[in-house]
Amino acid sequence: MWCYKYILICFIMQKKAVLSCFCLIFTVSLYLIKSTITMRQHLFILHHIVVVLLAMIAAPIYSMPSETPVGNDGVGVTLWLPRKASASAHVVCPKVADHTAAGTIAIAGRELQDSWQGGQVTLCLVSDGNDNDGYTISYKAADHSAVVSARRPLGLLYGAYALLRWQETKEGNDRDATWTSAPALQRRMLNHWDNPDGSVERGYAGKSIWKWEQITKSGMTDSLRQRLTIYARANASVGINAMVVNNVNASPKMVTRPYLEKLKVIADLLRPYGIQVWLSINFGSPLALHETKTADPLDASVQRWWQRKAREIYKLIPDFGGFLVKANSEGQPGPGDYHRSHADGANVLADALKPYGGMVIWRSFVYGANHKGEDRVMQAVSEFKSMDGLFHDNVILQSKNGPLDFQPREPYAPIFDNMTKTPQMAELQITQEYTGQSLHLVYLAPMWKEFFSYVDPVERGLKGIAGVANTGDDTNWCGHPFSQSNWYAFGRLAWDPSLTSGQIAHEWLLQTFGRGDSVTVAALEDMMLSSREACVNYMMPLGLHHIFSFDHHYGPEPDGYKAEYPLEWCPVYYHKADRQGLGFDRTVATGSGATAQYREPYRSLYENVRTCPEQYLLWFHHVAWDYRLANGRTLWQSLCDHYDAGVRRVAAYRVLWQSPAVRSYVGKAQWQQVDKLLGTQLDNARLWQHTCLNYFNGFRK
Ligand code: GCU
Repeated sequence: MWCYKYILICFIMQKKAVLSCFCLIFTVSLYLIKSTITMRQHLFILHHIVVVLLAMIAAPIYSMPSETPVGNDGVGVTLWLPRKASASAHVVCPKVADHTAAGTIAIAGRELQDSWQGGQVTLCLVSDGNDNDGYTISYKAADHSAVVSARRPLGLLYGAYALLRWQETKEGNDRDATWTSAPALQRRMLNHWDNPDGSVERGYAGKSIWKWEQITKSGMTDSLRQRLTIYARANASVGINAMVVNNVNASPKMVTRPYLEKLKVIADLLRPYGIQVWLSINFGSPLALHETKTADPLDASVQRWWQRKAREIYKLIPDFGGFLVKANSEGQPGPGDYHRSHADGANVLADALKPYGGMVIWRSFVYGANHKGEDRVMQAVSEFKSMDGLFHDNVILQSKNGPLDFQPREPYAPIFDNMTKTPQMAELQITQEYTGQSLHLVYLAPMWKEFFSYVDPVERGLKGIAGVANTGDDTNWCGHPFSQSNWYAFGRLAWDPSLTSGQIAHEWLLQTFGRGDSVTVAALEDMMLSSREACVNYMMPLGLHHIFSFDHHYGPEPDGYKAEYPLEWCPVYYHKADRQGLGFDRTVATGSGATAQYREPYRSLYENVRTCPEQYLLWFHHVAWDYRLANGRTLWQSLCDHYDAGVRRVAAYRVLWQSPAVRSYVGKAQWQQVDKLLGTQLDNARLWQHTCLNYFNGFRK
């Protein structure tokens, strides 16, 4: 009897309804059969049945939800997703025949049913709507009803999330409102740097979210499906519509049949959420897999191999996006190994994908190859400029926002000024490789907005924006609770680059922690908005750069030099401190000449030490220790001021965080986690300050 009781409780807890009923009937039958038993035994058995019934009542409260959890849960599993309403809303959905479209509309309907707290919502497909997944929302205050209309089912899903976001963040709902929104950029893409062995390059939130061992060609485990469904919802809620599943330092394994079959299962799950899957490929794959004798792109057997591979992929995943390629960079194979150009390599892949509508995204993050020895920040332009116009029309060149490597502050990458005939995409880094990883609170939207102020993604006609993902299998996906805001901000900015960092921070706070009192929310917003500048101040003030510890890039190592490493990996190459001063001379007049790669007016502004913005001073100039900045302070004094400002900021965040108002606004678990992390961040900021000032001071004597 004990045994049955506990089996039954387990089934109830897991919401296995049929099994629970069966077990209950079995238990009661046992009781009836044993009708000859004594009074004591009767009471004993009755006790068991009461316990079981109590468990059934308690189960909905204590059990793990078997459906995807809705709303914010206090530990970050459900990210910023809409909270569950107390009652199911009335939603009217259009009927469509297409399977994927029907799935998308059903998701939109379910999200609204679960979380909309107003009157009826009608989802309408219209023929004259926005042609690019945009939507229109009309809200009627009288009965709190809303109509979401769109030309495409995906527009309805985006509209549903927008309506729910509005519900969570609006100031009042006493007025009618109508608004339209459409994505500014066609491709809004996450680049996962996940490896098939479960590790994540520059991942700081646990292991990979793709549990390949839990996927077979016929499906995936329930728990993985549940987790990836949250991933899909989170992306769709901000309009992210594509993802590259694996690391740019790609394993050839990823294009083998078993992985492609698993990728198909992921693609099937993500499709109704409007998320297209892509692969990073290793350029040397056919050779590495021993299927050809070379990987030379101009070899016919290699071309046939890629054509066969493309056919195989599209048979499994008809809407597959294409290949992302890192070639001849940091040890990766590429066309250069066979004295072929990047255009030769990209075009062969592009031709293989072309019949299916696939694209190649070729990365310009190349240094140490044909232009070895040249100032590293100049090498992308040197490598690619002569190939402008030579790429086939389904090739896009993808470049990091800065010319070096995702430092907390870089001037924009001049490749965006130099390739006028080649379609381009920008690559931002959501994962915080150089910005304190998932231990520092650094909200990155201001950094990305700064880049947009030089390279306006819409005016430049960028074909999309990619963000290197910060997801992992940590409970809260991103490690630091505030790192979620970077994933969120990336998606929102890719949809609408004109949103302000403040608007996005505000939305994220309200959706993540709830409405709270406006003073507290404003203080946290300020904290987020100033956090990137704080990080710049304590890590790389006035344009210092790449003085990070080797390999892991977390702490300071300004004296870093290893003879066995490429010089461009060594901090001393970048700060060039000596008795005279500090900084990298990149002027045309006396330095590497990198300023010449910029369009006017930046070329002239950066060339002249007097007009160069102080935030880039040591990026472009070698400056004397006693040089006076605009405020009259010497370089040395200013450096001290900046480090000090950075440390003070973080100390102030800690004080704010420990205020009773913030404590009561943020759930206990997340409050504690952030409090501890702010302690670490403060210690780290002080370490940066002491290490760097001590080291640089040594040169002044
Ligand atoms: C950086 C990063 C590497 C990454 C590379 C890239 O160098 O540290 O881990 O592979 O960028 O973007 O390709």
